[in-house]
Amino acid sequence: MRVLVLGSGGREHAMSWKISQSNLLEKLFIAPGNAGTAELGENINLNPEDFPSLKSFCLKQKIDLVVVGPEAPLVAGVVDYFKNDAELKSIAIIGPDKVASQLEGSKKFAKEFMAKHQIPTAAYRSFSSGDEAEAKAFLATLKAPFVLKADGLAAGKGVLIIDNLAEAQEELDAMLSGKFGDASKTLVIEEFLGGLEFSVFVLTDGKSYKVLPVAKDYKRVGEGDTGPNTGGMGAVSPVSFVDNTMMEKVISRIVEPTVRGLNEADFTYVGFVFIGLIEVQGEPMVIEYNVRMGDPETEVVMPRIKSDFLQHLKATAEGRLAEEKLEISEEFATTVMAVSEGYPGTYPKGKEISGLDKLKEVLAFHAGTKLLEDKIVTNGGRVIAISALGSSKEEALSRSYAGIKAICYEGIEYRKDIGFDL
Ligand code: AMP
Ligand code: GLY
Repeated sequence: MRVLVLGSGGREHAMSWKISQSNLLEKLFIAPGNAGTAELGENINLNPEDFPSLKSFCLKQKIDLVVVGPEAPLVAGVVDYFKNDAELKSIAIIGPDKVASQLEGSKKFAKEFMAKHQIPTAAYRSFSSGDEAEAKAFLATLKAPFVLKADGLAAGKGVLIIDNLAEAQEELDAMLSGKFGDASKTLVIEEFLGGLEFSVFVLTDGKSYKVLPVAKDYKRVGEGDTGPNTGGMGAVSPVSFVDNTMMEKVISRIVEPTVRGLNEADFTYVGFVFIGLIEVQGEPMVIEYNVRMGDPETEVVMPRIKSDFLQHLKATAEGRLAEEKLEISEEFATTVMAVSEGYPGTYPKGKEISGLDKLKEVLAFHAGTKLLEDKIVTNGGRVIAISALGSSKEEALSRSYAGIKAICYEGIEYRKDIGFDL
């Protein structure tokens, strides 16, 4: 098969690494990719949101399967573009269509979906600009802390959790008047849920589904889960507090009704569902849906998949996922993210990375790197995720940390407490 992966992060490197192990693979392209993916296939200088350029590339290169990594092209309608084009129709594409991508692209849409299918989640109401007075009155009926969510995509910054009512009401005004552009002109106000978070990933062909390994990411920049939120500073799989009983509850109360709901809906969902969950007094509740894999969770999920991932993707695209057997390793996987100094705020780029050739017993998934002549340099806030497998979480972690200590660039930073139970 000739496969094109869209994206340039650690998630896409990890998926490309897994896809490249398949006997079904004839040629792998990654658009735009990074210095890591360049070792597995051919990087193509293409913007995943430039659909006409994607079209000419896919036709010229006779692509059989497109795997969409990030949410932006999905929310922009890349799947609809392929399905509605006579020449692209026969190319398989893994990802939900534009309407279905609203599960991630609109918090209000996601909450309505959960309400309709009785999927446990925080109680909520949504408001739009013009509704300020009503929204503030509603806030005043809730207990602190107050959770305000911009409806649309806001680069991971659209969720505010505020302790003080007056401050929350002020933020509400700011959001509805466009603090995050159009994304916050509608917002969701919801009940605060306290508990431990984890992530469940589901691959679905729209009828049947497979549950991928459960994972937990460490979102805050600082040790002890302090400081600003990031895309994710590390991850582990499996998750110590998610036992079989919890997974059974997640499957029966959340995964099954979600997939049934996707089936019944008048949109097409072929791809990954990332369910962000929180355990509240022993019960799982949904915090959010994403319509893609997580990053850095993919960097621990892929190493634990033993079966042929490309074969699973092919079967998914062909509506035959039920025939597949997903094999998961019993081993523990961990990943620690090396980031640039200043991340998640402003940070420099172009710092030369050394030590990659010294790595042992780890998988180095590039998140933000590029090739500059014959050098590998930093090219993002998150730079490299060092993943490892081990017979225990501790063994995997000691490999990840030995790996991260072996690499070097100016301003390298990473969390020292990935894997600790919070
Ligand atoms: P979201 O973008 O919806 O995943 O929210 C980002 C983060 O905000 C989540 O990972 C949680 O840590 C936190 N969060 C979101 N909703 C709630 C809630 N209802 N209660 C407590 N924390 C929340
Ligand atoms: N690590 C969280 C995410 O990918 O959204």
